[in-house]
Amino acid sequence: METVQELRLVFSRAQIEQRIDELAKLINQEYKGQEVLAIGILRGAVYFFTALTSRLTDVKLRIDFMQVSSYGSGTESSGHLNIVSNIKEDPKGAHVLIIEDVVDSGLTISALREHFAALGPASVKVAALLDKKERRTHEVTVDYTGFELDKGFVVGYGLDYAQYYRNLPEIFEVIFAQH
Ligand code: IMP
Ligand code: MG
Repeated sequence: METVQELRLVFSRAQIEQRIDELAKLINQEYKGQEVLAIGILRGAVYFFTALTSRLTDVKLRIDFMQVSSYGSGTESSGHLNIVSNIKEDPKGAHVLIIEDVVDSGLTISALREHFAALGPASVKVAALLDKKERRTHEVTVDYTGFELDKGFVVGYGLDYAQYYRNLPEIFEVIFAQH
């Protein structure tokens, strides 16, 4: 584990909440009165997930959670999805909304999209708090993006470094010590 020298504020609580309000408005419009299954990807998405889904008041919503890990080579169209813990609800016929913390290489989301597409949902869409484009190896569509980031490793609001910092109420860039 590298030494953390400093945490630099990137997105404040006010910015995060305002952006989630905007996303919720769009999602409420899109799915008004429809049956949606929101699937939170553990553990990073939990803070974003609760903030977002608690604002989806115009939707007939079920919530569920899934923990996954994905692996694959950069040349594959999508990686292999390792399901650590699965959803309990049946996604068949539902509008599936995958809620993720960060899209980085795109591997996880591309594998998840492929996984759910095979389960007979009405549709599959993705909401991600952060879209980091720098290391993208798998082209994926993110339907609802909180913020885009050019570079950097960030923590807080659910995001971790070696499992720490998830509980910080804002999003910070990690500055690592030089050695
Ligand atoms: P990928 O898109 O499959 O490469 O994986 C994205 C996952 O990597 C996210 O769900 C996060 O768990 C993790 N991740 C990527 N970038 C960051 C970051 O800046 N901070 C914390 N976790 C990150
Ligand atoms: Mg994650």
